[in-house]
Amino acid sequence: MISVFGTLVGKEELEEIKSSLGNHWMGLGPKVGLFEKLFSERQSLSGLVMVDSGTNALYLAIKLLNLPKQSEIILPALTWIGCAQAVALNDHIPVFCDVDLETQNVTAQTIKSQITSKTSAIMVVHYAGKPVKMQEIMDLGYPVIEDAAHAVDSKIGGQFCGSLGTIGVYSFDAVKNLATPEGGGITSKNPVFLDMAREMRYCGIAKSGFEARDTSKNRWWQYQVRDICPKLLPNDICASVGLAQLKKLDYLQRLRKQVWDYYQREFTSVPWLAIPREAEGNEQHSYFTYCIRVLNNRRDDLARYLLEKGVYTTLRYEPLHLIPIYKSKSKLPICEQLNEEALSIPLHPRLTESEIQFIVDAIMKFR
Ligand SMILES: Cc1ncc(COP(=O)(O)O)c(C=O)c1O
Repeated sequence: MISVFGTLVGKEELEEIKSSLGNHWMGLGPKVGLFEKLFSERQSLSGLVMVDSGTNALYLAIKLLNLPKQSEIILPALTWIGCAQAVALNDHIPVFCDVDLETQNVTAQTIKSQITSKTSAIMVVHYAGKPVKMQEIMDLGYPVIEDAAHAVDSKIGGQFCGSLGTIGVYSFDAVKNLATPEGGGITSKNPVFLDMAREMRYCGIAKSGFEARDTSKNRWWQYQVRDICPKLLPNDICASVGLAQLKKLDYLQRLRKQVWDYYQREFTSVPWLAIPREAEGNEQHSYFTYCIRVLNNRRDDLARYLLEKGVYTTLRYEPLHLIPIYKSKSKLPICEQLNEEALSIPLHPRLTESEIQFIVDAIMKFR
C-alpha cells in the first residue's frame, strides 16, 4: 500500500539515538535543549519550548494566555480534533468558523462572522502549509494562537510561520515535515510566555532542588509549584530524531516540493479536479499534504478506487462542527463542501518516482 504520509529516516537518526543511549539518558536532557536552540536559530525564533506533542503545545499555548473561563475561542472547523480538545480542556468554548474554498484557510472575514462579546482569542491553522494572511487576522485585535503544525517551513515576507502570532505552535509528530516519534513546541516573541511554558510543561514545577543542584541547603529536593499543570515533557530520544531531521529539513522539503510540482503539472488540466493553491506573493509553502477537490461528486468513489489499487488517501479533516462531540448548529458551507470534495493523496519524501507515476496514472484513468 502506498501511504499518504511518510518520513525519511536513516543512519543519522540512529546515530543520534545511539549517542543518547550511550550516555544512559533518555529523558529530558541536553538533546532537547540542543534541538530547541538549533530549531530556534533556523526559524529565527525568540525561543522554542519543546513539549511531548503539538496537541499538548496547543493546550499549553491556550493555558498561557490565561483567558476568562468559558470564553470563546474561534478556530477553523477544518482542523485536527486536538485543536478543539485543547480549547475545551482549558475550559473555553470552541467556536468554529468557515474557511476559504481555494486556500482552505481561515480569513478575517470568516472569523469576523463568529465574533461575539464572549470571544477571547483566535486560533489559526496554516492548512497544508499554505500561509494564512496573518496580518489581517492580527488586526482583529485578539490574541492569536498560530498553529504551524503543517507549516514548519512556511514563511510570509521572509518570516517563518509560527513566529507571527501571539503564541506559535509546532508539531513534530511521526508524519510531519520534521518528524520525531512524538513532539511539539511553543514559541513566542514574549519571553514571559516561554519562561512560563518551560515551567508548566513539568507539572508546573518552577525550580526543583535537582535543577538548582544546591546541596548546600537542607532539603534540596523541595520544589516550588505555582499552578496546576499536567506533565508534557519531551525526551532526548525524540529530540535526537528531531536533530537529525532538522539537519536534512531543506533536503526533505525539496523532495516534497518535487512531488507537489509533479502533481500540479499533471493535474492542472483535469477538468473534474481542482488542484491546491500555490504560495502567493511573498509566501513560502511547506507542502505538508496535497489536497485535491474532486468536482464530479465522486470523491468517495475515487478514494475507494485508489484504495483498491493500493493507494491510501484520506480526508484531512472531517469538519469539527459535524463531529458529534462538538456538533453545532452553525452552517459552514465551505467546510461542508470540502467534506464532500476534498481528498489528500500521498505526499511525502519517501515516495519513489514510479509510485508517483502510478498514482498519477491511476487518477487519470479514473472514470
Ligand atoms: C492542524 C494541526 N494542529 C495540531 C496538530 C497536533 O500535532 P500532534 O500530532 O503533534 O499532537 C496536528 C496533527 O496532525 C494538526 O494537523
